Amino acid sequence: MKLLFLGDVMGRAGRAAVSQRLPQLRADWGLDFVVVNGENATSGAGLSPDHAKALLAAGADCVTLGDHAFDQKDMLSFIETEPRILRPLNYAKSAPGKGARLFQAAGGRKVLVAQVLGQVFMKRPFDDPFSAMDQVLRAHPLGGLAQAAIVDVHCEATSEKMAMGHFCDGRASLVVGTHTHVPTGDAQILPGGTAHLSDAGMCGDYNSVIGMDKAEPLRRFVTGMSKGRFTPAMGEATLSGVYVETDDRTGKATRIRMVRQGGRLEQAGP
Ligand SMILES: [Fe+2]
Ligand SMILES: [Fe+2]
Repeated sequence: MKLLFLGDVMGRAGRAAVSQRLPQLRADWGLDFVVVNGENATSGAGLSPDHAKALLAAGADCVTLGDHAFDQKDMLSFIETEPRILRPLNYAKSAPGKGARLFQAAGGRKVLVAQVLGQVFMKRPFDDPFSAMDQVLRAHPLGGLAQAAIVDVHCEATSEKMAMGHFCDGRASLVVGTHTHVPTGDAQILPGGTAHLSDAGMCGDYNSVIGMDKAEPLRRFVTGMSKGRFTPAMGEATLSGVYVETDDRTGKATRIRMVRQGGRLEQAGP
């Protein structure tokens, strides 16, 4: 299967890049399944139902969220009506929606997608992501119930994301980090056959501080004083993420390539 995962879509610039580029990439690269992280798509904070619909219409088969899952309050009810949106498995016991789901792909194939939140340097203490992920992977064996499995590990620390990669090695097709908005350069296939990238980066304007217009973050760093709110940077976005090919029989990865399309970053693709 040919899989594409795109990192955190950041504000209007990120949404525009997904809408303008993803339909063509889907066709050009013959993609079978696309996951897009949408936790910052609406003004950098959360995902509104309208913007969720736009990401799905552009070609996302699944939209994952993150610690900002419910910043847009309408998502609390919308997620119950739209099964293609996932929030983190270990977000909160009472959270609406689901953290993992088996999706149908072309040719009767099934793709498991799951998202977990890390614990290191995160603002709120979330439940153990490793035991949560273990349960889901045991229930959906790769090469059995699922022809491919994609894990979005939403954390601050690269150490925790790499640890999750090894924890899932051989049990998932792809374990990819999100949340930090800067792509790491460590795309690899782990010894057990799981593709891994510590962070997918953001789909946003990189002439910014992690997707926000740089003036206010710079002011706060330099002077320690704030003068206004953070607002998403509006220049042309780079679509940033990872492309993976898998073997349908085993579900394991056979090829991994970083993806950077458009905008300011050095370009990359399959
Ligand atoms: Fe996040
Ligand atoms: Fe994010």
